[in-house]
Amino acid sequence: MSDFLLQLGQNQSARKLIKGLGLPIPMPQALARAAGPYEERPLADQPVVVGGAGALGEVIAETLARAGANPFVLGDDSLVHAFDAPGQAYGRPSKVLEPTDLPQGFQVHGLVFDATGVAAPADLRGLYDLFHPLVKSLARCGRAVVLARPASAAGSPAEAAARAAIEGFTRSLAKEIGKRGATAQLVVVDEGSEDRLEPVLRFLLSRRSAFVTGQVLHVSARAKAADGAPPRTRPLENRTVLVTGAARGIGAATARLLADEGARVLCLDRPADDAPLSQIAREIGGQVVLCDITAADAAEVIAREAGERGIDVVVHNAGITRDKTLARMDAERWDQTLEVNLDAVVRVTDALLARGTLRDGGRIVCLSSIAGLAGNLGQTNYAASKAGIVGLVEKLAGDLAGRGITVNAIAPGFIETRLTAAIPVMIREVARRLSAVGQGGLPRDVGDAITFLATPGAQGLTGGVLRVCGGAFVGR
Ligand code: NAI
Repeated sequence: MSDFLLQLGQNQSARKLIKGLGLPIPMPQALARAAGPYEERPLADQPVVVGGAGALGEVIAETLARAGANPFVLGDDSLVHAFDAPGQAYGRPSKVLEPTDLPQGFQVHGLVFDATGVAAPADLRGLYDLFHPLVKSLARCGRAVVLARPASAAGSPAEAAARAAIEGFTRSLAKEIGKRGATAQLVVVDEGSEDRLEPVLRFLLSRRSAFVTGQVLHVSARAKAADGAPPRTRPLENRTVLVTGAARGIGAATARLLADEGARVLCLDRPADDAPLSQIAREIGGQVVLCDITAADAAEVIAREAGERGIDVVVHNAGITRDKTLARMDAERWDQTLEVNLDAVVRVTDALLARGTLRDGGRIVCLSSIAGLAGNLGQTNYAASKAGIVGLVEKLAGDLAGRGITVNAIAPGFIETRLTAAIPVMIREVARRLSAVGQGGLPRDVGDAITFLATPGAQGLTGGVLRVCGGAFVGR
């Protein structure tokens, strides 16, 4: 399904003409997406400006050096010195930047601000001092990331207020820079979980988070850590991953991305979808699992197909919509939607855990939806099922933390699939534009986020909901 305005916007002459005529037509920026599997240096030679004063200078410096970025530092001496050792080790010395004296035509890929030192409202001025002069230099499809401590762990009311303020700042920044395809996120880092930040920062600064913006990610030491440093490339080598609903749409895109990272993928869909499912499985060297996820023996079938070694990652992606306003909704629509989207997810997860099929250090990723978070006309059944997923991941995350298993939900916004192709054209056009980046996402955008949450490097994230919605104006 093509997005006419997005295509028009890619034509430079058309862009200029529409701008010159002053026509009120939005011209969304085509998003830059990653090509190929995870790389050792995803930020190779990309300029990234780092500012602020806090506890994370060294982690940021090492992350950027290992990812191949060109760092510019703007901050106090301790931040500048944090870059000394990694700069030497990776042959990437940082440069100190004067915001009042920026080089002509200065363009940066990333802006990273360490706000973990913010202790009172007056300290918020540091955010303004970095972003005000530099926001115009942020390149198309650039990345802004602010790092902070949780407001809930603040030592004083002033500190709690200042920490909470950072969220409002970041979410607003995301809305301001979205039309250039750029994104902004807040990462809240618990004390004691600093060593889990690097993979999260890499993901957010890379092209794999093209449709994620205005989000708050919480890095914690809640889930037991695996031994050793997580791999940066081929992160899913020797891992078995189950993807339900893999015959098409988001599931198919996700199965491909997971296989690209070395995973053995069990592709599950309904028996009626044998042909498209087998096609995907053949393409990626995966295994076909024909099974209705609501069947009483679904977990048994999955466990049998997985074999003795079991499963490392479960992606609960299969889902349906049966829309009708409540007064017109028959009980069948209600039952089917709750059964596939929620009840089966609870039951299959439970059974896989009880059988010992899901391995320690594993990952569970469930598909929610922004409609589940916000509520939607004609979707009482669907929203109930997708909001239920949020409760499920919160509870499971606590229960499974001791085994090093993380559990998260992904809430996609408007994604270009057959589900959204069925929406009447005018509503579809409005839904696409009602987001910071002014366009719908692609199935692979959701797949990129799922793949990241499936990797060993995502061990700092559990019990959360990550929206992949391009900064949709809908919901919380
Ligand atoms: P889709 O309809 O293209 O694919 C869903 C797949 O799930 C299909 O292949 C279908 O056969 C399979 N499936 C359905 N019921 C099943 C069952 N009982 N057993 C086994 N497989 C079953 O849908 P799409 O768009 O790829 O969505 C994937 C997930 O993302 C769903 O959970 C959906 O609710 C969620 N989502 C999608 C959004 C979008 O904009 N496309 C927005 C928000 C959430």
